[in-house]
Amino acid sequence: MKQTVHPLRRLTGEIAVPGDKSISHRSVMLAGLADSPVRIGNFLAAADCLSTVACMRALGVRVDQVGETGLIVQGNGLFGLSEPESVLDAGNSGTTMRLLTGILAGQPFFSVLTGDASLRRRPMARVIAPLTKMGCRIRGREQSRFAPLAIMPADGIHGIDYDMPVASAQVKSALLFAGMFADGPTRITEPYTSRDHSERMLQTFGAKVARKGLTVTLAPVRDLVAPPFIDVPGDISAAAFWLVAATVIPGSALRLTNVGVNPTRTGIIDILRRMGADITVAAERRAGEEPVADLVVAAAKLKGTTVEGEIIPRLIDEIPVLAVAALFAEGRTVISGAEELRVKESDRLKAITCELAKMGAVIEETPDGLIIDGPQPLSTANCDSHGDHRMAMALAVAGLAAAGVAIDDADCVAISYPQFFAHIAAHQEASGRRN
Ligand code: S3P
Repeated sequence: MKQTVHPLRRLTGEIAVPGDKSISHRSVMLAGLADSPVRIGNFLAAADCLSTVACMRALGVRVDQVGETGLIVQGNGLFGLSEPESVLDAGNSGTTMRLLTGILAGQPFFSVLTGDASLRRRPMARVIAPLTKMGCRIRGREQSRFAPLAIMPADGIHGIDYDMPVASAQVKSALLFAGMFADGPTRITEPYTSRDHSERMLQTFGAKVARKGLTVTLAPVRDLVAPPFIDVPGDISAAAFWLVAATVIPGSALRLTNVGVNPTRTGIIDILRRMGADITVAAERRAGEEPVADLVVAAAKLKGTTVEGEIIPRLIDEIPVLAVAALFAEGRTVISGAEELRVKESDRLKAITCELAKMGAVIEETPDGLIIDGPQPLSTANCDSHGDHRMAMALAVAGLAAAGVAIDDADCVAISYPQFFAHIAAHQEASGRRN
């Protein structure tokens, strides 16, 4: 589908972004291993999380959808999954594939996990190698580098002490999830802290998780105790598109309601504020183990900055839209240490550089980042999403704030934010478009 986005006069009012993708995946996976039903509210009913639901159903877990965003998950206990009759399909979702691999590695049955063409190109050795050290038996295509993955029953799973070479919440979570079935503690150390939703949710389900600095330790789990209700916060990675749009479109004043503000995810707020953005974190509260707030943002002048080191995992999914912000900022923005972007749903460093170039932007692509001098004028263009939901939405923000854009293959926003273009349309009506 080709989607045309017109320039927006200003962005005002309120937007409720959909539920957090990472937390939605984890909620249905752990609920599926609990011993009594769990109700999940504000679940992200988008393609990625629905892939997880489909896999859990294929593993014998009853999942009922209640209304648009409610789920009731009836787990059969920690050892209650059953052998799937067919191949499990994770679709486009790296989180589904990597986290489920950890769970499946602990099962007494055979399973095969595959995904779409993009997911089958993404690196899987990063989970298979440490899981193999734990005693798990997993094979994949091309010497176990890529999916499909075949997962065989293990003779016994052992806890490990593992130093992760990259800060990846998906790898950490796969090891923690396999660690539930281990005969001893699983200890993982990261180079920098990545999102900690798995740790928090394991605690919600009664597991013993200890954290010290960059190390997390999980004790083997006997059973997961279902909380009666999980309330999924809004996704800060979805909110990020509006944070940037409202900052760079003059006259904007917007409230984003019920957004997760877990400190392992708020790098985008920190960096935009450092660039001069006017963002207030209001009405802070908790949804279970997760902090939630409303984000109030007003248009502001930005200046360039340096983005590197420990903050990278705290805004890893926001870099495409941060690059758009940098095009509106005065001075140079340098992003480095972000080579992980090359193995996301697309090679995002390449996709950002070549798609924004179609709008006239000059961005220097480095092996591990981007160098962007601003401000730069953007013209209207026909761009391509590379089948990557976050690219489609970042390009849309550039078009809203500048001269408009047409985006090919834009339906991929359904991966994480199916209402994205409807939300734009509602604001086009409310605030009018610029011509
Ligand atoms: C995710 C972790 C990140 C992120 C992805 C979701 C998660 O991936 O990019 O969108 O839910 O754990 P990595 O762990 O590969 O960095």
